[in-house]
Amino acid sequence: MAKPRLEARIRPARQGDFAACARLCLASLRDLSHRNLVRFFRHALTTDPDGFHVAIVRGRIVCYAITILRGKTHFLAQFFGKPGMQSRGIGRQVLARAFDAPRPPLGTVRCVVASLDLRAQALYTKFGMHPRTIMYFVEGKPTKSADGGVELRQLGPAGISTKRARDLAARFDRRLREARRDADQRYFVTVAKGSRFYEARAGAKTVGYVVVRGNGAIGPGGVHDPSLSAGLMSAAIAKAHENGMKTVSAWVPGLNGGALMAAFGAGLKVEFLTAWMAAKDIVRLESYLPSGGVLF
Ligand SMILES: CC(C)(COP(=O)(O)OP(=O)(O)OC[C@H]1O[C@@H](n2cnc3c(N)ncnc32)[C@H](O)[C@@H]1OP(=O)(O)O)[C@@H](O)C(=O)NCCC(=O)NCCS
Repeated sequence: MAKPRLEARIRPARQGDFAACARLCLASLRDLSHRNLVRFFRHALTTDPDGFHVAIVRGRIVCYAITILRGKTHFLAQFFGKPGMQSRGIGRQVLARAFDAPRPPLGTVRCVVASLDLRAQALYTKFGMHPRTIMYFVEGKPTKSADGGVELRQLGPAGISTKRARDLAARFDRRLREARRDADQRYFVTVAKGSRFYEARAGAKTVGYVVVRGNGAIGPGGVHDPSLSAGLMSAAIAKAHENGMKTVSAWVPGLNGGALMAAFGAGLKVEFLTAWMAAKDIVRLESYLPSGGVLF
């Protein structure tokens, strides 16, 4: 039901308003990220209940870890300790449980998009995951149009995940990401309003897929041939722009040089760095655009 409208008095801001505006801004950002986080927690717990564990000290949650098992990949999606309770041996215990409790089948590969936190880095290495590439988070207001090598054709309406789209994604995900993950593909298209799934085509052939989300985030996506990575990225950026996104963002593996150059060419900038760490080379990083840091 629509909320009743409120009348407000509008006046120019003054210096004395700064503290209140700062509080309001932080509360609003917190609320937004809180809602997005809760949606993600629900997705993780319903699709892989054994991978989500919390650590309790004196009745309060002080650390949690979420792993998600899809096919042969056992992805560490989130791992956080409460400030003041870090570096006291709790993280290691939660991490061990989150990786062991789902009883991953033999041959499963652990992986994570890792922060550069020293404790996290040390633990990931000790848990068998090693750095394989840097991940660049790029963002910006795109300035140029696509290079034309790859054409995108929308499959299904915005915000709806169709079987045809999931089948197409699976065809490429099996090779690029070593997993079929229908539940995640559904999540990518439904979680942000206005998200769309595209089939990527070149020379009248299907060469890959990409999701362009309603919040301007690009990914997941990929192409069978790395020489088409630049074309996919620039077509996705152009689509996001066409769909009305002012700001576009993506997580690009450092080894996906084509996508990175296309992002730079369109005016996007690196905002921060993380590392892709895995027990084995399972993802075709030069041809793949991950969905982000929590599902990859
Ligand atoms: C990452 C995090 C959850 C780990 O939890 P924690 O309770 O601090 O971790 P623990 O105390 O159990 O383990 C820390 C490990 O790092 C090791 N360590 C700490 N500093 C180190 C350093 N500079 N070099 C090498 N090892 C180091 C410790 O010896 C310990 O290993 P051990 O168990 O083999 O002795 C927590 O530190 C955190 O929230 N960090 C900030 C958020 C973050 O970056 N999260 C990761 C997102 S991918």
